[in-house]
Amino acid sequence: MKKTPHESKTEMTLMMLPSDANPKGNVFGGVILKHVDLVAGIVAKRHARNTNCVTASVDRVTFLKPVYIGNALILSARLNYVHKSSMEVEVMIEAENLEDGTKVRTGTAYVTVVALDKNGRPTEVPQLASKTADDKKRFKEGVSRMQLRLKEAGKI
Ligand SMILES: CC(C)(COP(=O)(O)OP(=O)(O)OC[C@H]1O[C@@H](n2cnc3c(N)ncnc32)[C@H](O)[C@@H]1OP(=O)(O)O)[C@@H](O)C(=O)NCCC(=O)NCCS
Repeated sequence: MKKTPHESKTEMTLMMLPSDANPKGNVFGGVILKHVDLVAGIVAKRHARNTNCVTASVDRVTFLKPVYIGNALILSARLNYVHKSSMEVEVMIEAENLEDGTKVRTGTAYVTVVALDKNGRPTEVPQLASKTADDKKRFKEGVSRMQLRLKEAGKI
């Protein structure tokens, strides 16, 4: 049965603490990537349910703006594209200044998650029901990105 991107979309908000940052207060990119990976895994698991969802790749991520200690890190994640066992999750990364409420977009990450069966082999997941014009546009763009990814990985 097909499932819509809406059924698996996930938003995660976390307070950035001193242990997440360098001595000047800038949050480490690796800390952000860890949470990006985590939220992408939740989206994939919500879509694929009874499978082992593992990260196959993360496209290059550019951090456009800094995130500081005390900011809220807001990750908004959704499925763009699903093939057989692979799912492309887009994660929008934002930082909110909790003092004045201003939000900045820090970057966007594309994470490919693959569903594995009990034997550790890739297994098919529900197809994506792209209903809205936006869903369809994202799906189409996801196809192109996946082609590029697989080409770079030497898979096609
Ligand atoms: C991801 C993984 C399962 C792919 O296994 P594989 O034997 O190469 O499998 P296949 O070539 O049959 O590909 C399976 C699916 O993964 C996709 N895939 C494989 N490599 C990929 C890559 N580099 N980027 C994006 N998708 C990829 C394929 O397109 C295919 O998708 P489809 O079923 O929707 O068509 C395997 O490389 C793996 O287990 N990697 C480690 C995953 C992990 O543990 N991650 C956590 C960090 S270590």
